[in-house]
Amino acid sequence: MKVDVLLGLQWGDEGKGKVVDVLTPKYDVITRFQGGPNAGHTLEFNNIKHVLHTIPSGIFRENKVNVIGNGVVLDPGIFKKEIDSIEKLGIDLTKNLYISRKAHLILPTHRLLDAASEAAKGKSKIGSTLKGIGPTYRDKIGRDGLRVGDILENFEEKYQQRVAAHKEILTRMYDYDYAEQLAEFEKEWFAGIEVLKKFQMINSESLINNAIKNGQSVIAEGAQGTLLDIDFGSYPFVTSSNTVCAGACTGLGIAPTKIGSVLGIFKAYCTRVGMGPFPTELEDEVGQKLRDAGNEYGSTTGRPRRCGWLDLVALKYSIMINGVTELIMMKADVLDDFDTIKVCTSYNIDGESTTEFPFELKDTLKPECIELPGWKTDLTKITDEKDFPEALKSYIKFIEDETGVPVSIVSVGPNRAQTIEITEK
Ligand code: GDP
Ligand code: IMO
Ligand code: MG
Repeated sequence: MKVDVLLGLQWGDEGKGKVVDVLTPKYDVITRFQGGPNAGHTLEFNNIKHVLHTIPSGIFRENKVNVIGNGVVLDPGIFKKEIDSIEKLGIDLTKNLYISRKAHLILPTHRLLDAASEAAKGKSKIGSTLKGIGPTYRDKIGRDGLRVGDILENFEEKYQQRVAAHKEILTRMYDYDYAEQLAEFEKEWFAGIEVLKKFQMINSESLINNAIKNGQSVIAEGAQGTLLDIDFGSYPFVTSSNTVCAGACTGLGIAPTKIGSVLGIFKAYCTRVGMGPFPTELEDEVGQKLRDAGNEYGSTTGRPRRCGWLDLVALKYSIMINGVTELIMMKADVLDDFDTIKVCTSYNIDGESTTEFPFELKDTLKPECIELPGWKTDLTKITDEKDFPEALKSYIKFIEDETGVPVSIVSVGPNRAQTIEITEK
């Protein structure tokens, strides 16, 4: 068996959580391979709306194994809150949630360093979720990090050593007054460490590889999106992990030869939260209409998401980097009420038209768009592709022809049930 990877092709929030929940019945093992509580993955079913941050989106289905892989960074305080809110629904997670001992810990001081760094950057800030992601991965790569497995031995000493180093930076480099916030964060953080100890901390690379060997099916759930990848995203306005398909290999300990299907998920338009370039952004009433129709407000921070038309230059780039084998189009219903829909097919850079994703997305870059007819139909009640309006069929066909990759699922609402498999080709 191979591992299927589901990942975002845009700037995150494509609807990964919803689709992983929908697809989970097909899989035995559901894993997260990178990122941390900067992610907010929303699931809706049986009148429940749930946002997951660190825990894989397979958690609400019975008899599934969920794994937080080594590539993830975990904040015990936030983890405890997640566990508490799921346990309130009567679900005991200690039996079907496993955590890699090699996953790195986000310390309270990492969150403070994130805040201090963003404040110091002023106008050029990244727009981080302030969950401590950057400073934690920095410590990991700098070989200074603490891992989940470390909490079992001499932890207090290791923790204090690291925190002392962070305090030095906070004071000397940022002149940051941390005392009050640190005390507050530490309280929930240490309570979280006790909760963490109730879980099965394992060598998850062995669990996953054994599962593959034993014929079990595995899905890897990405966080963020390709355009936020540390290597291939719109650097420096990115997150600090490899969100792309290769990240599943390093973040789970699986060989590239073990990757099966790569499910690339995108919105029928585009959004971005945080700072950084966004070629097709609409800062007008059309953008506001997308925001309203799509309820585009961050699942983790509540910030309004920036909205714009679908960007095929960026989408094709993401498909190339990830080796996407199937496309999943989300939030088609958000375009229900548009007479026409624009799609960016090339960029104009300094008077020259190009379909190549450039080194830098400069402010002077102008998206070149074509206009397609809207479907002016309520998609949210449709349950079969046969009932799709012709204009939606043409929209899908256009994307397939441009990218060369088939669309296998179209989502027409936030609920589990509003998911349509495409079988006719
Ligand atoms: P993720 O981070 O990729 O899991 O995505 P988020 O959960 O942050 O954001 C997606 C948002 O869109 C959530 O509020 C979902 O409930 C919602 N959503 C998902 N699919 C659809 C869809 O097809 N139509 C609409 N209208 N909303 C959707
Ligand atoms: P999901 O998994 C959308 C953005 C932040 C910021 C940049 C860096 O829900 O799709 P960080 O906190 O990682 O240092 O922030 O990345 N960002 C996301 N945007 N969805 C996410 O996750 C995101 N995680 C981080 O807004 O611009
Ligand atoms: Mg999200």
